[in-house]
Amino acid sequence: MTPDFEQMWRDLVPVGRSATTGGYRRQPFAAAERECVAWFVEQAQARGLSVERDRFGNLVAWWRPEQAAGRDAVLTGSHLDSVLDGGAYDGPLGVVSALAAVDALRDRGVTPARPLGVGVFVEEEGSRFGLACLGSRLATGATTWDRARGLRDRDGVALEDAMAGAEVGSADLLEGVGCFVELHVEQGRDLVDRDVPVGVASGIWPHGRYRFDFTGEANHAGTTRMEDRHDPMLGYAVTALAAHKQARLSGGRATFGRLDVLPGATNAVPSQVTAWLDARADTAEHLDALVGSVARMAQERTDRDGTSVTVTAESVSGPVEFDRDLARRVAGARSRPAIPTMAGHDAGVLSTAGIPTAMLFVRNPTGVSHSPAEHAGTADCLAGVDALTAALQELTA
Ligand code: GLV
Ligand code: MN
Ligand code: MN
Repeated sequence: MTPDFEQMWRDLVPVGRSATTGGYRRQPFAAAERECVAWFVEQAQARGLSVERDRFGNLVAWWRPEQAAGRDAVLTGSHLDSVLDGGAYDGPLGVVSALAAVDALRDRGVTPARPLGVGVFVEEEGSRFGLACLGSRLATGATTWDRARGLRDRDGVALEDAMAGAEVGSADLLEGVGCFVELHVEQGRDLVDRDVPVGVASGIWPHGRYRFDFTGEANHAGTTRMEDRHDPMLGYAVTALAAHKQARLSGGRATFGRLDVLPGATNAVPSQVTAWLDARADTAEHLDALVGSVARMAQERTDRDGTSVTVTAESVSGPVEFDRDLARRVAGARSRPAIPTMAGHDAGVLSTAGIPTAMLFVRNPTGVSHSPAEHAGTADCLAGVDALTAALQELTA
């Protein structure tokens, strides 16, 4: 007997959860995420699925019945890494639901006529190496290994070195994949407002991460007269307020959620402030305009302060419109609402790479995500598994 959805969920809940915040720290190639991956491999093996890995740390557990040989595959799955202090559902819900859907198909006596894979993409959140959806970008070729290998985490460890102990393979996991369906917890309250447990995605807003390096002059916090300072924190502070205001005015999103200050002493004017802007908008033009206006305001303020700023785009994703026909098939007989999302997903990367892609969203009563408050009720999760099972049955028929 393979464990059911609820048992699998209970297995994963403690892995990487902070005893103080209740949030998850499942950073790629670190202990907690590796434990989740090992758990996944065990589950796949218990089901007789064959696990294949690529050289980047992505993996797919395949169900390849004889009758499916030579036909385009259907891929499902999600990711097991988390943002820093993230919630339990973002990523793992799609992986656990996919395994539960395989079980449900078998319980129904269904043998897929196409290979069916449950995938786990590495570093979806970009929480360690800064590049969102790193695993799927590498798998699709959207990012090259030459660019990625030298990315460094906050401790200066390069991706290539972080991966040194990880089990990798040489499979091209996306070869022969005809479509991808990712189930995900909703990261807003659209489904709550509509009072439905499961929806499908229509598209993803363009979004990006931009590093703002503000440079000034370190000096004594007590003896340096206010008018003599070149304090880069001021440029940052004004820019953070400007970003908030510009996003509100334009209907976009702008967030500074990460900051490094050098030398980081309470009694010293800083020499350097590095801040990361996460910006999103409904069109690529609106995103460019939003980031451009924030960068201009940063420039104006730093000119006044005798400091400087440089802006570097670290990770930018264009707009995604999911395959409408696939979305209709995934929605099934039910008329599930089709909703846009402002969150990034591996599904967006695969879609951009030309693989017909769809997403199922499961209602999140808090609407909160990237936080320990992220949630989905068990009944809704099971409704998600049902929806995914039906979709996979239809797509592999
Ligand atoms: C991923 O969840 C993102 O939208 O940043
Ligand atoms: Mn996710
Ligand atoms: Mn996320």
